[in-house]
Amino acid sequence: MTIAGKGTALITGASSGLGAIYADRLARRGYDLVLVARNQDALTRVAKSLSSSTGRKISIVRADLEQRNDLLKVEGILRSDPSITMLVNNAGIGAVEPLLMSDVEAMERMIKVNVTALTRLVYAVAPLFVAREEGTIINMASALGIAPEVLNGVYGATKAYVIALTFSLQKELAEKNIRIQAVLPGAVGTPFWDASGGSLDRLPENIVMKPDDTVDAALAGLDMGEVITLPSVPDAADWNAYEAARQKLMPNLSRNIPAPRYRVPASAS
Ligand SMILES: NC(=O)c1ccc[n+]([C@@H]2O[C@H](COP(=O)([O-])OP(=O)(O)OC[C@H]3O[C@@H](n4cnc5c(N)ncnc54)[C@H](OP(=O)(O)O)[C@@H]3O)[C@@H](O)[C@H]2O)c1
Repeated sequence: MTIAGKGTALITGASSGLGAIYADRLARRGYDLVLVARNQDALTRVAKSLSSSTGRKISIVRADLEQRNDLLKVEGILRSDPSITMLVNNAGIGAVEPLLMSDVEAMERMIKVNVTALTRLVYAVAPLFVAREEGTIINMASALGIAPEVLNGVYGATKAYVIALTFSLQKELAEKNIRIQAVLPGAVGTPFWDASGGSLDRLPENIVMKPDDTVDAALAGLDMGEVITLPSVPDAADWNAYEAARQKLMPNLSRNIPAPRYRVPASAS
Protein backbone atom coordinates (compact mmCIF):
# COMPACT_ATOMS: atom_id res chain seq x y z
CA MET A 1 0.00 0.00 0.00
CA THR A 2 1.33 3.46 -0.85
CA ILE A 3 0.86 6.27 1.66
CA ALA A 4 -0.01 9.71 0.32
CA GLY A 5 2.50 12.31 1.58
CA LYS A 6 4.45 11.60 4.72
CA GLY A 7 1.66 9.67 6.40
CA THR A 8 0.88 9.90 10.11
CA ALA A 9 3.23 10.01 13.10
CA LEU A 10 1.91 8.65 16.40
CA ILE A 11 3.68 10.44 19.25
CA THR A 12 3.36 9.30 22.86
CA GLY A 13 3.83 11.89 25.59
CA ALA A 14 2.81 14.66 23.19
CA SER A 15 1.05 16.81 25.82
CA SER A 16 4.23 18.60 26.95
CA GLY A 17 8.01 18.83 26.71
CA LEU A 18 9.85 16.98 23.97
CA GLY A 19 6.71 15.21 22.68
CA ALA A 20 4.93 18.52 22.04
CA ILE A 21 8.01 19.78 20.15
CA TYR A 22 8.13 16.57 18.09
CA ALA A 23 4.46 17.23 17.25
CA ASP A 24 5.32 20.73 16.05
CA ARG A 25 8.35 19.69 14.01
CA LEU A 26 6.72 16.65 12.43
CA ALA A 27 3.56 18.58 11.51
CA ARG A 28 5.79 21.17 9.83
CA ARG A 29 7.55 18.34 8.00
CA GLY A 30 4.17 17.32 6.57
CA TYR A 31 3.07 14.51 8.87
CA ASP A 32 -0.46 14.15 10.14
CA LEU A 33 -0.40 13.33 13.84
CA VAL A 34 -1.93 11.11 16.49
CA LEU A 35 -1.04 12.61 19.87
CA VAL A 36 -1.15 10.36 22.93
CA ALA A 37 -0.96 11.25 26.64
CA ARG A 38 -3.12 11.40 29.79
CA ASN A 39 -3.77 15.15 29.92
CA GLN A 40 -6.61 15.68 27.47
CA ASP A 41 -6.71 19.48 27.86
CA ALA A 42 -3.02 19.80 27.13
CA LEU A 43 -3.31 17.45 24.13
CA THR A 44 -6.22 19.50 22.81
CA ARG A 45 -4.21 22.71 23.13
CA VAL A 46 -1.26 21.23 21.20
CA ALA A 47 -3.57 19.77 18.53
CA LYS A 48 -5.59 22.97 18.04
CA SER A 49 -2.57 25.20 17.78
CA LEU A 50 -0.80 22.89 15.31
CA SER A 51 -3.78 22.18 13.11
CA SER A 52 -4.40 25.90 12.68
CA SER A 53 -0.73 26.73 12.07
CA THR A 54 0.10 23.78 9.80
CA GLY A 55 -3.24 22.59 8.38
CA ARG A 56 -2.29 18.98 9.18
CA LYS A 57 -4.85 16.42 10.36
CA ILE A 58 -4.27 15.96 14.08
CA SER A 59 -6.13 13.64 16.41
CA ILE A 60 -5.68 13.08 20.12
CA VAL A 61 -5.93 9.93 22.18
CA ARG A 62 -6.25 10.17 25.92
CA ALA A 63 -4.41 7.15 27.30
CA ASP A 64 -2.57 6.27 30.49
CA LEU A 65 0.18 3.96 29.26
CA GLU A 66 0.46 2.39 32.71
CA GLN A 67 -3.04 1.01 32.24
CA ARG A 68 -3.39 -2.17 30.22
CA ASN A 69 -6.67 -1.22 28.54
CA ASP A 70 -5.41 2.19 27.51
CA LEU A 71 -2.21 0.67 26.17
CA LEU A 72 -4.21 -1.91 24.19
CA LYS A 73 -6.25 0.96 22.73
CA VAL A 74 -3.08 2.67 21.42
CA GLU A 75 -1.75 -0.65 20.11
CA GLY A 76 -5.07 -1.08 18.29
CA ILE A 77 -4.66 2.29 16.58
CA LEU A 78 -1.15 1.37 15.44
CA ARG A 79 -2.44 -1.93 14.05
CA SER A 80 -5.51 -0.54 12.34
CA ASP A 81 -4.53 2.87 10.96
CA PRO A 82 -2.75 2.17 7.68
CA SER A 83 -1.65 5.80 7.36
CA ILE A 84 0.80 5.50 10.29
CA THR A 85 4.39 5.70 9.04
CA MET A 86 6.17 6.80 12.21
CA LEU A 87 6.08 5.90 15.90
CA VAL A 88 7.71 8.32 18.33
CA ASN A 89 7.98 6.36 21.58
CA ASN A 90 8.57 9.43 23.72
CA ALA A 91 6.36 9.16 26.82
CA GLY A 92 8.43 8.56 29.91
CA ILE A 93 8.64 9.26 33.60
CA GLY A 94 11.69 9.69 35.75
CA ALA A 95 12.96 9.74 39.30
CA VAL A 96 15.96 11.33 40.91
CA GLU A 97 16.21 9.64 44.32
CA PRO A 98 18.78 6.89 44.83
CA LEU A 99 17.56 3.30 44.97
CA LEU A 100 17.37 3.03 48.76
CA MET A 101 15.24 6.17 49.01
CA SER A 102 12.83 5.44 46.19
CA ASP A 103 9.50 3.64 46.37
CA VAL A 104 9.47 0.32 44.53
CA GLU A 105 5.82 0.85 43.49
CA ALA A 106 6.83 4.10 41.76
CA MET A 107 9.72 2.24 40.13
CA GLU A 108 7.31 -0.37 38.80
CA ARG A 109 5.07 2.34 37.35
CA MET A 110 8.11 3.86 35.66
CA ILE A 111 9.03 0.47 34.17
CA LYS A 112 5.46 0.10 32.87
CA VAL A 113 5.65 3.37 30.94
CA ASN A 114 9.33 3.53 29.97
CA VAL A 115 9.77 -0.16 29.13
CA THR A 116 6.54 -2.15 28.85
CA ALA A 117 4.47 0.39 26.94
CA LEU A 118 7.36 1.31 24.65
CA THR A 119 7.97 -2.37 23.88
CA ARG A 120 4.32 -3.22 23.24
CA LEU A 121 3.95 -0.26 20.88
CA VAL A 122 6.99 -1.42 18.91
CA TYR A 123 5.47 -4.91 18.69
CA ALA A 124 2.18 -3.42 17.49
CA VAL A 125 3.66 -1.35 14.69
CA ALA A 126 6.73 -3.27 13.50
CA PRO A 127 4.90 -6.01 11.50
CA LEU A 128 2.98 -3.37 9.52
CA PHE A 129 6.11 -1.37 8.77
CA VAL A 130 7.88 -4.58 7.69
CA ALA A 131 4.98 -5.60 5.44
CA ARG A 132 5.05 -2.16 3.84
CA GLU A 133 8.89 -2.00 3.79
CA GLU A 134 8.68 1.52 5.16
CA GLY A 135 8.43 3.14 8.56
CA THR A 136 10.31 4.95 11.30
CA ILE A 137 10.56 4.14 14.99
CA ILE A 138 12.08 6.75 17.29
CA ASN A 139 12.69 5.61 20.87
CA MET A 140 13.35 8.29 23.47
CA ALA A 141 16.16 6.99 25.67
CA SER A 142 18.45 9.20 27.75
CA ALA A 143 22.16 9.79 28.26
CA LEU A 144 21.49 8.18 31.66
CA GLY A 145 21.01 4.91 29.78
CA ILE A 146 24.80 4.82 29.48
CA ALA A 147 25.40 6.65 32.77
CA PRO A 148 22.88 5.00 35.15
CA GLU A 149 24.95 5.79 38.23
CA VAL A 150 24.34 9.55 37.89
CA LEU A 151 20.70 9.64 39.10
CA ASN A 152 18.03 7.08 39.94
CA GLY A 153 19.35 3.72 38.77
CA VAL A 154 16.01 2.25 37.76
CA TYR A 155 15.38 5.23 35.48
CA GLY A 156 18.84 4.78 33.93
CA ALA A 157 18.18 1.05 33.59
CA THR A 158 14.88 1.65 31.78
CA LYS A 159 16.75 3.84 29.32
CA ALA A 160 19.57 1.27 28.96
CA TYR A 161 16.78 -1.15 27.98
CA VAL A 162 15.58 1.31 25.34
CA ILE A 163 19.10 1.56 23.91
CA ALA A 164 19.54 -2.25 23.91
CA LEU A 165 16.15 -2.76 22.23
CA THR A 166 17.04 -0.16 19.63
CA PHE A 167 20.30 -1.96 18.74
CA SER A 168 18.36 -5.16 18.33
CA LEU A 169 15.61 -3.51 16.25
CA GLN A 170 18.25 -1.97 14.02
CA LYS A 171 19.76 -5.43 13.43
CA GLU A 172 16.40 -7.04 12.71
CA LEU A 173 14.52 -4.29 10.89
CA ALA A 174 16.95 -1.94 9.14
CA GLU A 175 17.43 -4.30 6.21
CA LYS A 176 13.65 -4.22 5.75
CA ASN A 177 13.88 -0.46 5.15
CA ILE A 178 12.67 0.52 8.63
CA ARG A 179 14.48 3.47 10.18
CA ILE A 180 15.32 3.03 13.85
CA GLN A 181 16.73 5.64 16.20
CA ALA A 182 17.30 6.01 19.92
CA VAL A 183 17.76 9.54 21.22
CA LEU A 184 19.97 10.06 24.29
CA PRO A 185 19.55 13.61 25.57
CA GLY A 186 21.28 14.88 28.68
CA ALA A 187 19.23 17.18 30.91
CA VAL A 188 16.52 19.07 29.03
CA GLY A 189 14.43 21.95 30.37
CA THR A 190 10.97 20.34 30.50
CA PRO A 191 8.32 19.61 33.16
CA PHE A 192 9.97 16.17 33.48
CA TRP A 193 12.17 17.36 36.35
CA ASP A 194 9.32 18.57 38.55
CA ALA A 195 7.34 15.41 37.80
CA SER A 196 10.39 13.32 38.74
CA GLY A 197 10.84 14.96 42.13
CA GLY A 198 13.86 16.95 41.02
CA SER A 199 14.44 20.57 40.21
CA LEU A 200 15.94 22.13 37.13
CA ASP A 201 17.03 25.09 39.26
CA ARG A 202 19.58 22.89 40.99
CA LEU A 203 21.31 22.01 37.71
CA PRO A 204 24.10 24.16 36.27
CA GLU A 205 22.72 26.12 33.31
CA ASN A 206 25.44 24.83 31.00
CA ILE A 207 24.22 21.22 31.20
CA VAL A 208 20.53 21.89 30.43
CA MET A 209 19.45 21.95 26.78
CA LYS A 210 16.32 23.65 25.48
CA PRO A 211 13.64 21.18 24.34
CA ASP A 212 13.43 22.80 20.89
CA ASP A 213 17.18 22.41 20.37
CA THR A 214 17.02 18.82 21.62
CA VAL A 215 14.32 17.76 19.17
CA ASP A 216 15.88 19.66 16.27
CA ALA A 217 19.21 17.91 16.96
CA ALA A 218 17.45 14.55 17.28
CA LEU A 219 15.70 15.00 13.94
CA ALA A 220 18.97 16.12 12.34
CA GLY A 221 20.48 12.87 13.64
CA LEU A 222 17.56 10.92 12.16
CA ASP A 223 18.08 12.65 8.81
CA MET A 224 21.75 11.68 8.98
CA GLY A 225 20.75 8.03 9.43
CA GLU A 226 22.05 7.77 12.99
CA VAL A 227 20.84 4.84 15.09
CA ILE A 228 22.03 6.50 18.28
CA THR A 229 21.80 10.26 18.60
CA LEU A 230 23.45 12.06 21.50
CA PRO A 231 22.30 15.66 21.04
CA SER A 232 24.88 17.18 23.38
CA VAL A 233 28.05 15.18 22.70
CA PRO A 234 30.23 17.55 20.63
CA ASP A 235 32.47 14.97 18.95
CA ALA A 236 30.74 12.01 17.26
CA ALA A 237 34.08 10.20 17.41
CA ASP A 238 33.59 9.75 21.18
CA TRP A 239 30.43 7.68 20.63
CA ASN A 240 32.06 5.86 17.72
CA ALA A 241 34.96 4.84 20.00
CA TYR A 242 32.50 3.62 22.66
CA GLU A 243 30.62 1.60 20.06
CA ALA A 244 33.87 0.27 18.57
CA ALA A 245 34.86 -1.04 22.03
CA ARG A 246 31.49 -2.85 22.26
CA GLN A 247 31.98 -4.35 18.81
CA LYS A 248 35.52 -5.45 19.73
CA LEU A 249 34.09 -7.50 22.61
CA MET A 250 31.54 -9.27 20.38
CA PRO A 251 33.63 -12.19 19.04
CA ASN A 252 34.67 -13.22 22.55
CA LEU A 253 31.45 -12.75 24.49
CA SER A 254 30.59 -16.44 24.25
CA ARG A 255 33.34 -19.09 24.31
CA ASN A 256 33.67 -22.65 25.53
CA ILE A 257 36.58 -21.92 27.87
CA PRO A 258 36.98 -19.37 30.66
CA ALA A 259 39.34 -16.49 30.05
CA PRO A 260 42.91 -17.22 31.19
CA ARG A 261 42.61 -14.77 34.13
CA TYR A 262 39.82 -16.92 35.62
CA ARG A 263 41.63 -20.25 35.34
CA VAL A 264 42.14 -21.37 38.89
CA PRO A 265 45.34 -23.40 39.43
CA ALA A 266 44.45 -27.02 40.38
CA SER A 267 46.19 -26.65 43.77
CA ALA A 268 43.94 -23.68 44.73
CA SER A 269 40.61 -25.50 44.24
N1 LIG B 1 13.78 16.27 30.37
C1 LIG B 1 14.91 15.60 30.43
O1 LIG B 1 15.89 16.02 31.07
C2 LIG B 1 15.07 14.31 29.65
C3 LIG B 1 16.37 13.86 29.36
C4 LIG B 1 16.53 12.67 28.69
C5 LIG B 1 15.41 11.95 28.27
N2 LIG B 1 14.16 12.42 28.56
C6 LIG B 1 13.02 11.61 28.12
O2 LIG B 1 12.23 12.38 27.26
C7 LIG B 1 10.89 11.88 27.24
C8 LIG B 1 9.93 13.04 27.32
O3 LIG B 1 10.12 13.70 28.55
P1 LIG B 1 10.05 15.28 28.68
O4 LIG B 1 11.38 15.74 29.15
O5 LIG B 1 9.47 15.88 27.50
O6 LIG B 1 9.10 15.40 29.97
P2 LIG B 1 7.57 15.81 30.13
O7 LIG B 1 7.36 17.19 29.63
O8 LIG B 1 7.25 15.48 31.55
O9 LIG B 1 6.82 14.82 29.14
C9 LIG B 1 6.52 13.50 29.47
C10 LIG B 1 5.35 13.10 28.59
O10 LIG B 1 5.04 11.74 28.88
C11 LIG B 1 3.65 11.66 29.14
N3 LIG B 1 3.37 10.59 30.09
C12 LIG B 1 3.92 10.41 31.32
N4 LIG B 1 3.35 9.36 31.92
C13 LIG B 1 2.42 8.87 31.06
C14 LIG B 1 1.50 7.81 31.11
N5 LIG B 1 1.38 7.03 32.20
N6 LIG B 1 0.71 7.59 30.05
C15 LIG B 1 0.77 8.38 28.96
N7 LIG B 1 1.63 9.40 28.86
C16 LIG B 1 2.44 9.65 29.90
C17 LIG B 1 3.26 13.02 29.71
O11 LIG B 1 1.90 13.32 29.45
P3 LIG B 1 0.70 13.29 30.51
O12 LIG B 1 1.23 13.74 31.82
O13 LIG B 1 -0.32 14.20 29.88
O14 LIG B 1 0.26 11.87 30.51
C18 LIG B 1 4.13 13.94 28.88
O15 LIG B 1 3.49 14.26 27.67
C19 LIG B 1 10.81 10.89 28.39
O16 LIG B 1 10.89 9.57 27.88
C20 LIG B 1 12.06 11.18 29.22
O17 LIG B 1 12.51 10.06 29.93
C21 LIG B 1 13.95 13.59 29.23
